[in-house]
Amino acid sequence: MQQMWTDIDEYINSHLIPTDPRLQHALDNTDNQGFSNHLAVAPNQGMFLQMLIQMNQCKRVLELGTFGAYSTIWLAKALPEDGYLLTVEGRDTHVIIAQENIDYANMPTNIELKKGRGADIMKQLIADGAEPFDLIFIDADKQSYREYFELSLKLTHSGSIIVLDNVIRAGAILDENNKKPSIEGIRDAFSALKDHPQLLSCTALQTVGSKGHDGFAIAIVK
Ligand code: DHB
Ligand code: MG
Repeated sequence: MQQMWTDIDEYINSHLIPTDPRLQHALDNTDNQGFSNHLAVAPNQGMFLQMLIQMNQCKRVLELGTFGAYSTIWLAKALPEDGYLLTVEGRDTHVIIAQENIDYANMPTNIELKKGRGADIMKQLIADGAEPFDLIFIDADKQSYREYFELSLKLTHSGSIIVLDNVIRAGAILDENNKKPSIEGIRDAFSALKDHPQLLSCTALQTVGSKGHDGFAIAIVK
């Protein structure tokens, strides 16, 4: 099935997703430096993130897990010129590539890339009384998803959107023998989302496509 999913993604992308040299550069530069673009969102998923920002007229966005800044550029494409995008990456090598790709993209909106552990940076933002974010895209280490989600509730307002990437992992979440920290982390995140009193609504959708079988969870803050 993987070939079919990939072919359909290519069909969707060729019809509906305009090419953008800023995005293509991010993919090429990441690939040329020996990093797999498998961790980047697919183009049609990037467009979906862009549309969430447009639908909700978001101005302040927080991304956890920059990697090659491919999704970062998608998020920034949707923001107005007076928007602000903070993206957080913990790994040195990735910070260097991400900054190169962000610099090349030269987006009109302000993109700030901070190096560090997502939770530490979020705690600092909370301590500093940072303005809340309109959308938070959680895409960093999966074992910390619950912590990222709980901290996100302190950095958002009523109506803010929280998206958690990669919450299906080809169905590994159902495999009771799979006790990998990343998979346990996703199960923990589902438990945290379940009946959460601070959420207006929440769901998760499975996706198939060029990135295999995965999915994302999405929540609206009450
Ligand atoms: C992985 C992480 C991601 O954020 C993603 O979108 C795909 C894969 C990974 O760690 O394997
Ligand atoms: Mg991801």
